[in-house]
Amino acid sequence: MNVLGFESSCDETGVALVATMPGGPPRLRAEALHSQAAMHEAYGGVVPELASRDHIRRVLPLTRRVLAEAGATLAEVDLVAYTRGPGLAGALLVGAGVAVALGAALGRPVLGVHHLEGHLLSPFLGEKPPRFPFVALLVSGGHTQLMRVEGVGRYELLGETIDDAAGEAFDKSAKLLGLGYPGGPALAALAEQGDEGAFALPRPLLHSGDLDFSFAGLKTAVMTQLRKLGPAPSDAARADLAASTQAAIVEVLVAKTLKAVRASGLARLVVAGGVGANRRLRAALDAGVRRLGAEVSYPPMALCTDNGAMIALAAAMRVEAGLEQGTDAGAFDVRPRWPLQEQSAPAGA
Ligand SMILES: Nc1ncnc2c1ncn2[C@@H]1O[C@H](COP(=O)(O)OP(=O)(O)OP(=O)(O)O)[C@@H](O)[C@H]1O
Ligand SMILES: [Mg+2]
Repeated sequence: MNVLGFESSCDETGVALVATMPGGPPRLRAEALHSQAAMHEAYGGVVPELASRDHIRRVLPLTRRVLAEAGATLAEVDLVAYTRGPGLAGALLVGAGVAVALGAALGRPVLGVHHLEGHLLSPFLGEKPPRFPFVALLVSGGHTQLMRVEGVGRYELLGETIDDAAGEAFDKSAKLLGLGYPGGPALAALAEQGDEGAFALPRPLLHSGDLDFSFAGLKTAVMTQLRKLGPAPSDAARADLAASTQAAIVEVLVAKTLKAVRASGLARLVVAGGVGANRRLRAALDAGVRRLGAEVSYPPMALCTDNGAMIALAAAMRVEAGLEQGTDAGAFDVRPRWPLQEQSAPAGA
């Protein structure tokens, strides 16, 4: 089955063609992505109206590029998938509108996909695809969740952040350090030159006994340390603070994730979402999981952040699991707020 996927929930326009075959791993035939980060940087965050307009400009040229790179024609597309939510309403409508129009023109079914389900299943496109069941750590710009995943559409929430997401903690700390938007990768790069033991930053909820997270206090702690450093901190001090911040986030993520794996009785972990690209986090999780005698799967680096491939893949997996057939192109809607657990099949299904 060839699935053409569109992602436009926030500030990345992603298009991809994914092919699946019974019994074999899914194959990414081609993908194209345009990040609006440079456009939004001047504002320190995403401006929704600008995001929607830019998706409109990018989506068709990206689609042509994907088809050309795959050496495919639209006639080969069996299913058209798009991100239905959660995300910015106007931005979601661009992908939804294009997908539904294409489905109508081609006479093919169309399927709206949950953005987090896309992230969650993206490791199936990785080098070491997981097998169900597994524990999943979803760490993105808007979410930090631990889940027990029994199969496609069977997602049980084990714990989540009560305030900021891990990606948000990276971004907000990066902003305080003057690193621009989105700051996660920049903070991680600066941290490479720093000493992570230089500043004692809090490890919120580390010993709370549950699987929830809290990262909102961390930025306040970073701000306090920056104030102490005065108006012009040295490059070395900034690198130390970046390293200490990253270490605090990683330590809490790893401790709770390993706790979830131990409690689940499962020997498999899946990590997904933009923060899953963080090398320090990957190294700590690799070591921790090895100690437990378990395995861990990640998405390919380029598919950690938003992309069309994960949307095409999630649609294919839902159809192949018999959960959906896709609907005839026609009326469509988007779900700017949409809990992932609403996508879950009833227990035992
Ligand atoms: N190497 C890295 N280290 C730390 N954080 C990173 C790294 N690469 C990306 N990020 C962070 O990942 C986040 C973006 O990830 P992603 O695209 O999955 O999130 P999102 O789509 O904005 O949020 P959501 O999927 O929850 O709606 C940003 O917060 C970014 O700073
Ligand atoms: Mg995302």
